[in-house]
Amino acid sequence: MNSIIENRTWRYATKKFDNTKKVSEEDLALLIEATRLSSSSYGLQPYHIFVITDQEIKDKLRPVSWNQSQITDASHIIVFANKTDFGPELMDDYLKNVSETRNISEEGLKGYGDFMKSKLLDLSLESKANWTEKQTYIALGNLMQAAAELKIDTCPMEGFEADKYNTILGLSEKNLNASVALPIGYRSVEDETQHYAKVRQSKEELFTYI
Ligand SMILES: Cc1cc2nc3c(=O)[nH]c(=O)nc-3n(C[C@H](O)[C@H](O)[C@H](O)COP(=O)(O)O)c2cc1C
Repeated sequence: MNSIIENRTWRYATKKFDNTKKVSEEDLALLIEATRLSSSSYGLQPYHIFVITDQEIKDKLRPVSWNQSQITDASHIIVFANKTDFGPELMDDYLKNVSETRNISEEGLKGYGDFMKSKLLDLSLESKANWTEKQTYIALGNLMQAAAELKIDTCPMEGFEADKYNTILGLSEKNLNASVALPIGYRSVEDETQHYAKVRQSKEELFTYI
C-alpha cells in the first residue's frame, strides 16, 4: 500500500494511551516543526500552541474534558488556541517577518498589508474568532499526519469545556481561546478501537467531479 494511504489507515482517534510511553524529544521536535510549517490564510498563523507535559495541569484538564482518559494518559497534550481578537499588529508583525526573511523592504509590502487589513480588520469580533479558529484546524491536521508518519498516536479532541481550559491555562488574558486539543503518545494494547475498521463515506458520496 502507498505510504500516504498506509499512514492514514494506521492512525485512528486513540481512546486509550499507554501512559508508560513518552514521545522522545527528537520526535517532538519534528512534530513541532511540521506544525510550525502549516499554511494559514495570508500566512498570518493567528493562534498559539501549548505543549503540555505537566501532570498536574493534565489532571486539572481531564475533568473538564468529559473525563476522557487520553488527557491524563497521553505523553503530551497539544492545545491549539486561536486569537479571539486582533488589530493591525497581526499583519504588521507578519510583514516585518516577511521583510526580514526575504530581505525585502517593508515599503514594498505595504500594498499587501493594506489589502489584508481591509479584508480582516472590519470583521466583527465573532467573525474574527471564527476565522482564527478555522486556521488552528489546518495546524491540527498537519500535526496529526506528521505524527502518523512517525507512528505516533493522536486523538483530536473537541470534547472539552473551552472556557475552563481558558481559565486553567490562563488563555483569556492573552486574548486566546482553546480551540481544539490533541493528545499525542502511543496506543495501549488494550485499546480495542485500534482494531475497528475505518468508517468513511464512499467516494461517490463524498466527491463530485465537474
Ligand atoms: C475536531 C475533532 C474533534 C474530535 N473530538 C473527539 C473527542 O473529544 N474525543 C474522542 O474520543 N474523539 C474525538 N474525535 C475523533 C473522531 O470521533 C474520529 O476522528 C472519527 O470518528 C474518525 O475516526 P478515526 O479518526 O479513528 O479514523 C474528534 C475528531 C475531530 C477531527
